[in-house]
Amino acid sequence: MEEKQSGICIYPGSFDPITNGHMNLIERALHIFDKIIVAVANNPDKKTFFSVEEKKEMIQTALGDNPRVEVDSFNGLLVDYAKRKRVHVILRGLRAMSDFEYEFQMTFMNRKLDRNIDTIFMMTGLRWFYVNSKMIKSAARSGADVKGLVPEIVYKKLSEKL
Ligand code: PNS
Repeated sequence: MEEKQSGICIYPGSFDPITNGHMNLIERALHIFDKIIVAVANNPDKKTFFSVEEKKEMIQTALGDNPRVEVDSFNGLLVDYAKRKRVHVILRGLRAMSDFEYEFQMTFMNRKLDRNIDTIFMMTGLRWFYVNSKMIKSAARSGADVKGLVPEIVYKKLSEKL
């Protein structure tokens, strides 16, 4: 079997934008993994609120300088990206039950595409159970104050854009 990097995981997502729920997961995953690659998916067919570059910049600012975290982006299939990075663990966060079916389908699809890659799940911190990027954008658009639900840099960028 091809040599893989151990102790490393890829944490993929749309991150449109990163929330404190994501941040909480990264922080806790750093107790388990030596290194985490936060990978922003670039899907040219999907219209996003923030560009990939904006998302990466916000994630990097929110995380600060940490040699154990890399912020990157990828096009195409996640399993192909993982293979290029020689990483065989994908990390995903689980909130409420509603996440389960989607995650289940995605995990099995990825497993079908590459049997050497496994997905592991961590429960999102209870405090962030109801926080997701879509709701943050929708609430912020309607004038809600989302302070405390997203990193400071995201709060600032959201306020500028809206
Ligand atoms: O934050 P999200 O939107 O739940 O993240 C979903 C993401 C980006 C991880 C998923 O859509 C993905 O892996 N996209 C890359 C394309 C791919 O590999 N598709 C096949 C597996 S479903």
